[in-house]
Amino acid sequence: MDGHSTLLQPRLDRLRDTLRLAVIYNGDRHQPNAVINRTHNPRSDKSYRSVAEDIATALRGAGFRHVDLLADDLTLVEKLRQGRHHFAWLNTAGVQGYDAVAHTPALLELAGIPYVGHRPLLAVTLDNKHVFKRELASIGLPTAPFLVCDGANDAHDITADPRYAATFGDHAGPFVVKPVSGRGSIGVTFVERRADIAAAVQSVYRTTLNQVMIEPHLPGREYCVSVCGRIVARDGQLRREAEPFAFSMLERLLGADEPIFTSMDVRPITLDRTRLLDARDPVHAELMYLARRVHNDFNLRTLVRLDLRADAAGRLHILEANPKPDLKRPDGKAVSLVCVGLAQHGMSYEDLVLSLLVDRLEFYLAHRPAAVQHIAELLA
Ligand SMILES: Nc1ncnc2c1ncn2[C@@H]1O[C@H](COP(=O)(O)OP(=O)(O)OP(=O)(O)O)[C@@H](O)[C@H]1O
Ligand SMILES: [Mg+2]
Repeated sequence: MDGHSTLLQPRLDRLRDTLRLAVIYNGDRHQPNAVINRTHNPRSDKSYRSVAEDIATALRGAGFRHVDLLADDLTLVEKLRQGRHHFAWLNTAGVQGYDAVAHTPALLELAGIPYVGHRPLLAVTLDNKHVFKRELASIGLPTAPFLVCDGANDAHDITADPRYAATFGDHAGPFVVKPVSGRGSIGVTFVERRADIAAAVQSVYRTTLNQVMIEPHLPGREYCVSVCGRIVARDGQLRREAEPFAFSMLERLLGADEPIFTSMDVRPITLDRTRLLDARDPVHAELMYLARRVHNDFNLRTLVRLDLRADAAGRLHILEANPKPDLKRPDGKAVSLVCVGLAQHGMSYEDLVLSLLVDRLEFYLAHRPAAVQHIAELLA
C-alpha cells in the first residue's frame, strides 16, 4: 500500500551485518582463465568497473558490511562459492559471444544466487532492440517502424526487398541504421538517402557480426525516463509506492549539428546536455504512462531507462529500454541520465541503490522463497 514502510525495514539491520554482496562488472576475456577460447563481443566492450565501484561504495554507505567487487568471467562461480556470497548485483553486460547480457544472470540462476538485474529472457529481450520493438508493437506501445537485416548475406539488397516498401512506404529518408544490440550510440549511423542504406548496413555488420536494424530518422525532441520497482528510499527510509517508480524524466539536448546523440564515450553527458522535466511539462504524463506500461507489461523486476524520440508531428516513439542503464554516481562534471532527477524526489544516490536492492530482496522473499532460503535464514 502506498506510503507504508516495507516488510524488510525492521529487519534490514540484520542484513546489513550479515548479507554478503557481490557487485559484478564486465570481466576481460584477455585475462588468464577468463574464457576457454577468446571470441568476439557483438555488443562492444566496456568494463563498467568504475560504476560497480560507485554501487559498492553506496551499498557500504547504506550500512552493508560485506560488499565485494567481482569480475564477470568463467571464474565467477568459483569466486562466488569461495566468497560465500548470498546476493549479487549485476553491473555487467557480459564478456563475449552472442546474447552476452544474459550469460551472467543465467549462470546465477543455475548457481542459485539471487541478484539485482533482469532474468535472462528479459535481459536479451531488452538488449535486442528488434525483439523489444516487436513486443512493444504487439502490445500497442509506440515505436518507429523498422526492418532487420541479417548482414551475413551481403548480396542481399534490403532496399529491393518487398518488406522495405511495406515498412517504409514512400519515406525517402533520412534513416538511422544501427546495431540491434549496442551501447553508447556506437555504430548508430545517420543515413540521408535510401541509396546509402546498404553500405551503412554492411559497415555496422562488419563491426558487430550481428543483425542490423533500419528505422526512419525521428527528427523531434529526445527524452529519457527511468523506471524501477515500487520500493523507494528517501533519507534511508523505505516506502512502498502504489505504482512502479518513474523518475529522471528529461529531455536530452542535441546540438543543431547532431541528428543523433553523440556517444558518451566521445562526449561525456553533462548537465547542460539535459533538461529535467517536471509535472508541468506537456510530455511528463505521457512519459510516466509509457514507463509504467513498459514496467508492468513486461513484468520488469528492476530498473530500466527508456529512450524515446518524437517524430515530426511531436508523437513519442520508444527507441529502446536499456537493461543496465549507466548508474554512475554524479561527480559534479559528468552525470548519468538515471540520476539526474533524484533530487526532485528527495533522493540521494545511496537512496536509489538501497531502493533497488531492497525492492529485489522483498520480491524474492515474498514471491520466490525457494531462491532465497539462505537469506531467510539470516533473518530468522
Ligand atoms: N530512429 C531514430 N531516429 C532518430 N534518432 C535516433 C533513432 N535511433 C537512434 N537515434 C539516436 O541515436 C542515439 C542512440 O540510439 P539508441 O538509443 O537506439 O542506441 P544505443 O547505442 O543503445 O544508445 P545508448 O546506449 O547510448 O542509450 C539515440 O540517443 C538517438 O539520438
Ligand atoms: Mg539509447
